[in-house]
Amino acid sequence: MCGIVGCILKEDNDVAPILFDCISKLEYRGYDSIGLATFDEGNIYIKKDKGKIEEVDHKLNLSDMPGSFGIAHVRWATHGDPSKLNSHPHVDEDTSIAVVHNGIIENYLEIKEKLTLEGHVFKSDTDTEVIPHLIQKFMNEKFDLEHAVRKTIDIIEGAYAIAAISKNEPDKIVATRKDSPLIVGIGEEGYYLASDSPAILKYARDIIYPERGEIVIIDRDGVVVHDEFDNVVNKEIDTINWTPEMAEKEGYDHFMIKEINEQATAVRNTLTQKDNIQEIIDDVGDIQRICFVACGTSYHASLTGKYLIESLAGIPTDVILASEFKYSANTLNENTLVIFISQSGETADSLKALDVANQTSKTLGIVNVAGSSITRRAQYVIQTQAGPEIGVAATKTYVAQLTSIYLFAALLSKNVELLKEIEKVPDFIDETLEDIDFIKDISKRYNYARDFFYLGRGYSYPTALEGALKLKEITYIHGEGYAAGELKHGPLALIDEGIPVVVIIPPGDNYRKTMSNLEEVKSRGANVLAIGSSDDESLKAKSDDVIAINADVKEIIAPLVYIVPLQLIAYYITIEKGHDPDKPKNLAKCVTVE
Ligand code: M6R
Repeated sequence: MCGIVGCILKEDNDVAPILFDCISKLEYRGYDSIGLATFDEGNIYIKKDKGKIEEVDHKLNLSDMPGSFGIAHVRWATHGDPSKLNSHPHVDEDTSIAVVHNGIIENYLEIKEKLTLEGHVFKSDTDTEVIPHLIQKFMNEKFDLEHAVRKTIDIIEGAYAIAAISKNEPDKIVATRKDSPLIVGIGEEGYYLASDSPAILKYARDIIYPERGEIVIIDRDGVVVHDEFDNVVNKEIDTINWTPEMAEKEGYDHFMIKEINEQATAVRNTLTQKDNIQEIIDDVGDIQRICFVACGTSYHASLTGKYLIESLAGIPTDVILASEFKYSANTLNENTLVIFISQSGETADSLKALDVANQTSKTLGIVNVAGSSITRRAQYVIQTQAGPEIGVAATKTYVAQLTSIYLFAALLSKNVELLKEIEKVPDFIDETLEDIDFIKDISKRYNYARDFFYLGRGYSYPTALEGALKLKEITYIHGEGYAAGELKHGPLALIDEGIPVVVIIPPGDNYRKTMSNLEEVKSRGANVLAIGSSDDESLKAKSDDVIAINADVKEIIAPLVYIVPLQLIAYYITIEKGHDPDKPKNLAKCVTVE
């Protein structure tokens, strides 16, 4: 959902190579266009164009710009098509101010109309362009850059993280945020701004997190943060424990396949959160209802949580899409624990819901990105330990979310047996990954399909939904996940000769009924690809293909292991089709608009 970066170097060295390096690390946030603005000897220099970073760099040589401070942007288009004109940075008429922005200015049309009447001329279709014009207007009225930005945010409505430079106030970047992420990095060679930490890990790991409405001023001497009354705020400095290498491909072809391969480690590291989770459970007190709130993949992890908590702890549990949450707000009370699951901790729908839930209930965030907005606004936090996830398709963060949820459910219900089973998961994942070549070959054979179905019962139903989501988002093949028992209530009509049906069928209570559903689709001509136990001979006889999982993986923990082949199927079909799995079209890693 757009990424922004800013940097000012202490010495007078060229900043463009650093800006380019940092913004390249945020390509997962938007790949419609890229642009940089730097300042040197009284002028602002801009290079920008539509297209992926590599293409634009090839054309414009983005690292070759003068100046020791500047800003940069990658765009996920909201207002105006991906084009050079709509690319950031945006400027005022005489290029005295340059601005990068992540978010949406909801009232931009009325501001634009007003400024046009005052003589301002706009060149783009973006909402962002009103920002440099407003800053220019206030600087013309003799406000300095900081106060012109302050006056501007009094007018604009919506979500934003903004960084601005002015040629009339050199050696300074002014930034602010509301409902879009922004971090400030303090490095040895300079000071940095970014939408997300992977951008600046190589240069700075001491981080400040500005709050909504605070104004950040960075210059060669350091960082100052002002609150809305112009008072200096003494911000805490956190140190990120992620390393720059963690945000690199490290020899893999894509981040997605690297991250799939890191899943055992993600689970192992997240298991270290057990004591923290126990403390939260002890502290949270009497809970009569649990509500999970999330989007996308995190929603599927939450659904697994409902099955676990209701069956093990007997606490009524709902799972609500964050974007639909407000309709349930009246049902919350102080005995409800609302659990927000989010990889990024910055998803706008989830943040809006969190603000609502905080008014009545206890709130817990299960989040991967340290210091993100959900971690700062939820009353309790469980930090998943997946490390930075760059691929747009969530993989290792999903298993890390599941690990936290499993620990939570097991500790809540004092289920020692389940705790023991969870400990085995990393080895089961690694063992499944040993079959990667076999899964790759199978995936190639399913590349022909236009539609896929994924079936699972009980704990395997959310896995079916997640498998279908992975397929849709990166292969662009239509995939539907269904509760296996539901198929006969309508969708069975869609099953035809050769249509692939992926059946998730671990050994356990649901096995026999799922097998009946498998036979129903098989007898109607479906091509059945089953994910089941390695010792299940009957499954091998009845399916076209079987991906075998260690027979010791019990149904209850199957979601943590059976998802691995589904991720791989989506990945290898995508490769076969020649798409980029890390940057699926129309999507972005962090969805900061509602
Ligand atoms: O950062 P979040 O977990 O809050 O993001 C929610 C969804 O946008 C996200 O899970 C999305 O569905 C996945 N990237 C898809 O793989």
